[in-house]
Amino acid sequence: MTAPRDIPLRKIDHVRFFVGNARQSAFFYRNAYGFEVVAYAGLETKVRNEAGYVLRQGGITFVLQSPLRPNHPEASRLILHGDGVADIALSVDDVRLAYNLAVERGAVGVVGPKALEDEHGVYEYATIRAYGDTTHTFVNRDRYHGAFAPGYVAIDPERYSPATYHPAGLLAIDHIVGNVEEGRMNERVDIYRTVLGFEQLVSFDDKDISTEYSALMSKVVQGGAGRIKFPINEPARGRRRSQIDEYVDFYGGAGVQHIALATNDIVKTVRALRANDVSFLRVPRTYYDSLLDRVGPIKEDVAELADLGILVDRDDEGYMLQIFTKPVQDRPTLFFEIIERHGSKSFGKGNFKALFEAIEREQSLRGTL
Ligand code: FE2
Repeated sequence: MTAPRDIPLRKIDHVRFFVGNARQSAFFYRNAYGFEVVAYAGLETKVRNEAGYVLRQGGITFVLQSPLRPNHPEASRLILHGDGVADIALSVDDVRLAYNLAVERGAVGVVGPKALEDEHGVYEYATIRAYGDTTHTFVNRDRYHGAFAPGYVAIDPERYSPATYHPAGLLAIDHIVGNVEEGRMNERVDIYRTVLGFEQLVSFDDKDISTEYSALMSKVVQGGAGRIKFPINEPARGRRRSQIDEYVDFYGGAGVQHIALATNDIVKTVRALRANDVSFLRVPRTYYDSLLDRVGPIKEDVAELADLGILVDRDDEGYMLQIFTKPVQDRPTLFFEIIERHGSKSFGKGNFKALFEAIEREQSLRGTL
């Protein structure tokens, strides 16, 4: 077998959410998470069957999309999955090459290579299946100079007036985690490796990630020279129901569990998000009693971290700070992580136990543990 040709992936271009009411979701992501609403597509821009809002903060782009009519081809996903991530778009040098190579290597094609053209240039894309109903779209916008993509126009200030939220200082997407059904993790990891040329970074088994009640397994794959990181989780057998089982049950299958957003001042970011009314998971105060013994010296003030509920972990290369939000919709599915790295490239293994116990307290309130 000859060495596989590389699919030239650059980075995560945007994340597209499919939601019941994109207009209201845009308000939430703007006012709670501090995104700027920059572009819009809908009836007024001659898009007849869906509305879309493009939100931006630092290098992060979210697209919120809602069907306008019951016969929209994706309308049924709202009943099945509720609001959630429909697509993780990856920017590539060559859409046709990326799509053809991916499909040749076994990816399921969803939309073949297309070039959309308007007065701002040419926007190229093609879509393959990722896991569950989640897809990856290959995007190239090198020859496109409009607001986002054909159909989208820069936001009309009449539709969204200047915001009054606290700026959150979020800079980039650090990683996006997928939950898959029991027994499906290795298959997904292999697909990322063989189809997209990702490499496997680390794996955690149920001995690393278990509490008295539940367990999960996780493997991390990365591509695009380390700029794209996708941990994949599957539930493992525990005494009670794993949070991954809960997710799969409420989401109706595999899907995106959380998106980690990077900041270079997590204390300031979390203060702003709390002031904007974002709800975070809390670990018991005892977590902080022996924190410095566990992680060694850190630049941040432990009392301040304890006050905000920010977690710390260290590996050979440095340390990292992280905190998790509660789910951002009624179904216990998608949530966010805020992360600040100081050399560490890890995912917070040392925090798993404290964190999962916090999640289990929430599960228990929901009657799903
Ligand atoms: Fe994470």
